[in-house]
Amino acid sequence: MNAPASHSMPSAAASPLDMRGRPLRDLRLSVIEACNFRCPYCMPADRVPDDYGFDSATRLSFDEIETLVRGFAQLGMHKLRLTGGEPLLRKNLPTLIQRLARIPGLDDIALTTNGSLLAAQARALREAGLGRITVSLDAVDPARYRDMTGGRGEIGHVLAGLEAARAAGFESIKINCVVERGINDDQVLPLVSHFRGTGHVVRFIEFMDVGTCNEWSRDRVVPSAELRDRIAARWPLRALEANYRGEVASRYAFEDGQGEVGFVSSVSAPFCGDCHRARVSADGRLYTCLFAGEGHDLRPALAGGVDALRERVSSVWTRRRDRYSEMRDAAGASRKHVEMFLIGG
Ligand code: GTP
Ligand code: 5AD
Ligand code: SF4
Ligand code: SF4
Repeated sequence: MNAPASHSMPSAAASPLDMRGRPLRDLRLSVIEACNFRCPYCMPADRVPDDYGFDSATRLSFDEIETLVRGFAQLGMHKLRLTGGEPLLRKNLPTLIQRLARIPGLDDIALTTNGSLLAAQARALREAGLGRITVSLDAVDPARYRDMTGGRGEIGHVLAGLEAARAAGFESIKINCVVERGINDDQVLPLVSHFRGTGHVVRFIEFMDVGTCNEWSRDRVVPSAELRDRIAARWPLRALEANYRGEVASRYAFEDGQGEVGFVSSVSAPFCGDCHRARVSADGRLYTCLFAGEGHDLRPALAGGVDALRERVSSVWTRRRDRYSEMRDAAGASRKHVEMFLIGG
């Protein structure tokens, strides 16, 4: 999908390139920083209080979000993912999606959710124009799932959400599992077994040193190659081509035709060279990397409308150099990282 859609405005000539020649293709926009879960690797309950969240005036309004997304689309962004915190906690989200779905140049609107509130909202999201859903799910065993969500999650609610989403027309849902050695790596085969043959695609994500709360260490990372071998020993796998340039997950099909699995290997095999992603927090800060320490406040520019916003984003993007995952082990790599729940992964 390198060529802009014919209805993109304005032409590709306006798309900025960063210092490493990378265009801005994807926007991951957090609509809310709050979450009803307290996954220990993201928002541990002993570090983030139950009532954590901005006041509603701090969050971008729907009008501001629409202006922002229009501006990004004019710079060549064609793929939008709504994230959180937990995005389904944002009031009237379908109304926002309906507004965003009309923006010229956008050809993909997706949502990343923990799935707990999906059953009640799936149909409205679909009717509003949401194209795809990704559900985060780190275990299938009910007790383990509860632990992985900081004691807050009910696996039954997520499974009901997946069913409702399918019934509403979301056909192939991606299921993201962050794997931590000794914590939930015993859930990998059960997850594959549960979702093989359903049309949904499970993707295993290497545990990353994002944020400041998770006391990351390399020995808790299970390299994707190891997981792939474990899965293939039970269900033989065949490598697939990427769906598009810069795809984050590497894909494998089950030899027996029961679908596919994916692996996101940003620790063992960084993919910064093709990173076309910008992230914006719910309070309107632009982060040029998942591991950035500081965001760029877009609010003042937003007040000036689409043109001012576009110029501001372009000036930040053209100075972008980020490639943290490739630098992780370098002496100078910054350890100051924005929290994952502010930028949604
Ligand atoms: P598709 O559009 O469906 O291909 O989505 P995606 O795979 O690009 O997005 P998704 O949010 O599902 O990404 C899966 C996980 O990969 C995220 O939750 C992050 O943990 C990780 N990830 C995504 N983008 C990046 C990135 O730019 N850098 C790093 N280091 N990790 C990323
Ligand atoms: N490493 C890898 N992925 C993470 N996520 C949150 N924290 C981490 C981490 N430390 C994932 C969530 C979810 C997405 C929003 O980001 O599990 O799938
Ligand atoms: Fe919430 Fe997702 Fe973070 Fe878990 S990983 S606490 S569901 S934002
Ligand atoms: Fe992009 Fe930063 Fe991830 Fe590299 S580490 S792929 S630059 S977000």
